[in-house]
Amino acid sequence: MDVLDKIKAPVATEMEQFREAFRQTLYNENPLLEKAVEHLLKSSGKQIRPLLVMLAARMVGEVNEKVMRVALALEMLHTASLVHDDVVDESNRRRGLPSVNAFLSNQSAVLVGDYILSKALECAALTDDVRVVQYIAQVGQSLADGELLQLNAKDSDQLSESAYFDIIGRKTASLFSVCARLGVLAAGGTESEAERLAQYGKLIGLCFQLRDDVFDYGKAEVGKPLGNDMKEGKLTLPAIYAVKHSDDASMRELAQKVRRKEATAEEIQQLIDFSVSEGGLEYAQWYMKDMQGMAAGLIEESRDPAVTEALHLLASFVAERVI
Ligand code: IPE
Ligand code: IPE
Ligand code: MG
Ligand code: MG
Repeated sequence: MDVLDKIKAPVATEMEQFREAFRQTLYNENPLLEKAVEHLLKSSGKQIRPLLVMLAARMVGEVNEKVMRVALALEMLHTASLVHDDVVDESNRRRGLPSVNAFLSNQSAVLVGDYILSKALECAALTDDVRVVQYIAQVGQSLADGELLQLNAKDSDQLSESAYFDIIGRKTASLFSVCARLGVLAAGGTESEAERLAQYGKLIGLCFQLRDDVFDYGKAEVGKPLGNDMKEGKLTLPAIYAVKHSDDASMRELAQKVRRKEATAEEIQQLIDFSVSEGGLEYAQWYMKDMQGMAAGLIEESRDPAVTEALHLLASFVAERVI
């Protein structure tokens, strides 16, 4: 059993029901939507967000119908954001298959993303809980806000860790945080229980994006193109750290060139090699370890020790994962 299956074990039956409901909810007779949805369902990803919703719910109660709808809404929001993100990032692969923009077109991908996003809001509305709708609508705004800030950052000369953390907080960690918060609330937990797990979600979400950004410096097979961040003018923590902590002015110059999307493939490789040799990856790893420890510190005992254990495993997984 791999680590993810181990983390899913306490909610394995519910995750099975989730997969079926996800498929049924997205189905549409419109030929183009049918084609896109079928394509998306061929490779469904790790489904970490619905898993987090369910584990958070199980900390305080059961995976009831409302929890399931929250899980569906949040995984749909995530899926829509990836369909749009691949248009923004001009990326042609996702989960080992052509991305929707590559499989269909940019125009279709924008509309397919809109369709899935609207489905997400419908699932949220079906909970009959205005808090759920409000949190999901807010996290959608945060995702777009984070992606826009990232686009803007490329036009700025400033290289800062705090700007980097602000962006990944908005575009990724906010969603993890809402998954945990709404899992607790939908299962009948208190605001303070929800707040504590929302903090946990935020920390593992930051770790998750940091790990994703680290992938981009390597050559491992993760089902999507690597080296794409710099090609898109995006500088992430390892490069920001390396450039900031070196007095090599030529590397600072090169970093700005990458940002302006004026660097050649060789120059990008040069900045990647420099970031690695200056300890950028170790620095990111150190950050992840730190956040993983803080996240673990927020997990309280629950009625089911297997659920507590799964949340601990999830905190390690996001920092150490190879997929
Ligand atoms: C990809 O998320 C987007 C990031 C936040 C890095 P995932 O790696 O969770 O994507 P799937 O759903 O498993 O494909
Ligand atoms: C995460 O950023 C995308 C969203 C939060 C929407 P990335 O652009 O790094 O994600 P990948 O690498 O394409 O999966
Ligand atoms: Mg991307
Ligand atoms: Mg990425």
